[in-house]
Amino acid sequence: MNCDVLVLSGPNLDQLGTRSPEIYGTTTLEEHVSRLRERASRWGWVLEHRQSNFEGDLIESAHEARSGARAIIVNAGALSHVSWALTDALAMFPGPVVEVHLSNPAAREPFRHVSTLAPVVAGTVAGFGALSYDLALGALATLLGVDGAL
Ligand code: DQA
Repeated sequence: MNCDVLVLSGPNLDQLGTRSPEIYGTTTLEEHVSRLRERASRWGWVLEHRQSNFEGDLIESAHEARSGARAIIVNAGALSHVSWALTDALAMFPGPVVEVHLSNPAAREPFRHVSTLAPVVAGTVAGFGALSYDLALGALATLLGVDGAL
């Protein structure tokens, strides 16, 4: 992996577009990522994307990012609420990590109110749909010294 920002997408996000559109909208994951890639290219940034429905794959991508990425945007889907293993993997990453959710988990079912990732991320953006990703990218760019990124 050799990139500025790794976007890590967890279980069921590959179904965006048709998955609960009243909650997540109709934009596909590919569309979210190409929008982000275009925005990142404004600063000459290279963006890598990994999606998996398997916890171990996401953990291995987080490990790989340790030597090949400057920052991570992570939407771990439901693993955000239960995965201490992914939390441990992200804790090893030396750069900034931003947690993203399209919906606002705090306004949904109680099991979504906890994020195991929260203690190891720089911050969380939730509830703004595609804008959550844009804001996360802008925050990371700002943290990494890009002027006027937000
Ligand atoms: C989500 C919120 C999670 O609770 C859910 O399990 C998802 C998507 C979001 O982007 O809003 O898969 O991470």
